[in-house]
Amino acid sequence: MFDTKVYVERRNRLRKMFRTGLLLFTGNGESPMNYPSNAYKFRQDSTFLYYWGINYPDCAAVMDIDKDTEYLYVNDVDIDDIIWMGPQESVKEKGARVGVHSVCPLKDLFTSINNAVRLGRKIHFLPQYRQDNTEMLSTLLGIKSKHIKNYVSQKFIKAVVDMRSVKDEYEIEEIEKACNIGYKMHTTVMKMCKPGLMEYELAGAIEGITIANSGYISFPVILSQNVHILHNHDHSQKLAANRMLITDAGAENEMNYCSDFTRTIPVSGKFTQKQKDIYNIVLEANNKTIELAKPDVSYKSIHLEIAKIITHGLCNLGIMRGNVDEAVENGAHALFLPHGLGHMMGLDVHDMENLGENYVGYDDEIIRSDQFGTSSLRMGRRLQKNFVITDEPGIYFIPELIAKWKSEKINMEFINYDKVNEYMDVSGVRIEDDLLITENGCRLLGKKRIPVTVEEIEEIMKK
Ligand code: GLY
Ligand code: MN
Repeated sequence: MFDTKVYVERRNRLRKMFRTGLLLFTGNGESPMNYPSNAYKFRQDSTFLYYWGINYPDCAAVMDIDKDTEYLYVNDVDIDDIIWMGPQESVKEKGARVGVHSVCPLKDLFTSINNAVRLGRKIHFLPQYRQDNTEMLSTLLGIKSKHIKNYVSQKFIKAVVDMRSVKDEYEIEEIEKACNIGYKMHTTVMKMCKPGLMEYELAGAIEGITIANSGYISFPVILSQNVHILHNHDHSQKLAANRMLITDAGAENEMNYCSDFTRTIPVSGKFTQKQKDIYNIVLEANNKTIELAKPDVSYKSIHLEIAKIITHGLCNLGIMRGNVDEAVENGAHALFLPHGLGHMMGLDVHDMENLGENYVGYDDEIIRSDQFGTSSLRMGRRLQKNFVITDEPGIYFIPELIAKWKSEKINMEFINYDKVNEYMDVSGVRIEDDLLITENGCRLLGKKRIPVTVEEIEEIMKK
């Protein structure tokens, strides 16, 4: 947990953005796997953690703007809890650690919100992603649960996004720790990888690293020889010498801050010429992002710039053809890069995605494209100092998408399908690093960059 004053200051800043009403915060409850007392690892809501710091199930909180008061709602443990879980911090102690002195049992939340509803007061709340919290809001507010989403507060969303987008020094330190766990995960894959092993042996080893570092995975590990399946959680294949292997994985450290890295390596430990051809284009795109990312530059413009690098590289190989600018304008590159360059990262690996991607990644000036590929860009707006973003270009050979474009004659003039056929067995490459935007540019997060050049990867895999 951070120092008490961090939470007090955050709440003070938030409070000042409102003139009237109540801000209602929902914490998360336990989530059962297969019966109620057998739960998934508990994960607190990130906005709740950000303002209230308490990593404990079944909490809620309210800021009353008009009365300038704040309340934390959480039940105290009883003797039954102590028998099963051991002695616990009291709710008073919990509150004191984050500077809250009014701590009440959860049932009081119902009384206080009911009163506010009766008086017709404005109650701001955020979008919900867990059914039990939606149901609780439905009961509290007297709104059918399926309509709760229509009553979320845009003002509240925007205030939270404004604050959480710009990371403070304490957060950067934590993200850096998560990145250092990420380094261990990815170098472990590089060292362990060899033909004949099963994908799950590597996936299990790196998930174990997160736990052994007092954390957890920041999202389910993507580790697969089917690199072209963007979010492939299947780990059932045997590693084969002629394949590429993607690992897209990160850690959440004990303070719940995230990392997210991707490396693509040759299972044999040595790149073939065709694998290297594709790899080096993606690496150029990844490095170009690091060169271009700085305050005031929009991430959408960088996405389009790296789309040109990818198109240019594929033209050099004869896979694409024609004028690079025209190809990108027409979205032809998206046959090979159907996703965006990156996203915000912080307490969530896709930071604040639960509040709405467009609030986080776009604004009145930079709006989301509706063109296939570029429309998947989660983060498009201008960068600011202390934003943390991912830089994750890729090139993929997706058989079904290629077959569709070919049969529908989409962007025919820019694609040379005979040459595409020659590269199908490369499957794909994605390279992802985490960037902190600085005063005049950006820097890679983590003590050391995970091996990334062809030479560095071949070197570490040799050991
Ligand atoms: N690294 C997984 C993702 O960004 O979606
Ligand atoms: Mn990512």
